Amino acid sequence: MKICVLPGDGIGTEIVAQALRVLEAVGGKFGRAFETEEALIGGCAIDAEGVPLPAETVAKCQDSDAVLLGAVGGPKWDAIDPAIRPEKGLLGIRKELGLFANLRPARLFRELADACYLRPDIVARGLDVMVVRELTGGIYFGEPRFDGEKDGERFGCNTMTYYEHEIRRIARVAFEAARKRSGRVCSVDKANVLDVSRVWREIVIDEHKNYADVELSHMYVDNAAMQLVRDPSQFDVVVTGNLFGDILSDEAAAITGSIGMLPSASLGEANPGLYEPIHGSAPDIAGQDKANPLATILSVSMMLRHSFDMAEEADCIENAVVRTLEQGYRTGDIMQEGGKPVGCAAMADAVLSNL
Ligand code: IPM
Ligand code: MG
Repeated sequence: MKICVLPGDGIGTEIVAQALRVLEAVGGKFGRAFETEEALIGGCAIDAEGVPLPAETVAKCQDSDAVLLGAVGGPKWDAIDPAIRPEKGLLGIRKELGLFANLRPARLFRELADACYLRPDIVARGLDVMVVRELTGGIYFGEPRFDGEKDGERFGCNTMTYYEHEIRRIARVAFEAARKRSGRVCSVDKANVLDVSRVWREIVIDEHKNYADVELSHMYVDNAAMQLVRDPSQFDVVVTGNLFGDILSDEAAAITGSIGMLPSASLGEANPGLYEPIHGSAPDIAGQDKANPLATILSVSMMLRHSFDMAEEADCIENAVVRTLEQGYRTGDIMQEGGKPVGCAAMADAVLSNL
């Protein structure tokens, strides 16, 4: 199994290094050999090559069985030409690999219930939401797009677009995911205002005819944002477009206690899947051994499950993470009274010993 590793910027290098230790240990335990090869993406690629996504990186990813990514971006590149911002590297690799489906499972680890922002009676009802975000279309990529001047003043524009085939394939991913969970899909849109959302809803309803065993509901995005904090237990799978999914997945992550705990998988039809924590590069704590490596470690677990069909190995990592939390190890983002404070490397040490 060949894995292309893209540590990226900020805490990306630290969390990826720790996640790779876990991958290697799991490989040793189960007699699996993983070959890894590093490549540049984001700010570090701009510094070295002048672009956020060098062609060599794309080639290395295409030549691998899966991709593990840390995070991109940082203040160093904030003033750079928008056309080559670090984020363009991330959007570019998603597009190049055709990774249209982004799975972001937000679940509350029982051990972290105290770190959760929601009232205990709400938490008690459970929090286990899978956000299925469309990743290669919508307003992130739609044309026309414009940053310039019009009628004598600054003017900017982006366009939210969705073709039927883009909606159908992401709806299918959501229905399939629901079949392996509680069998419910809520499609989130803004069909009361946006034409593109009316097409979205119509196609989701049509595709649902092939999934009669799955329960389908619809919700406007503003209401969904509210319901997520009011009663997240009503959701199983949430399927939505690129921008709404970006926003709602951060919200879903935050209500579980910390954005530092959530992994993600980005999948396409045939290309290698890409696995990354949903949090960013956290430049404020980069290089200080403070970052929480668990989201990246759990992303490795998702990689084993989805790309390599290694459910046992994936479970092994998840169980080790749960055990580590039970033992009280806490990085700063999930610290609570009585917790054992650890840094990035020591958190991974604890997971390793629990493997
Ligand atoms: C995410 C991030 C990215 C996105 C940024 C860094 C381009 O916020 O993965 O959610 O908007 O998709
Ligand atoms: Mg985001």
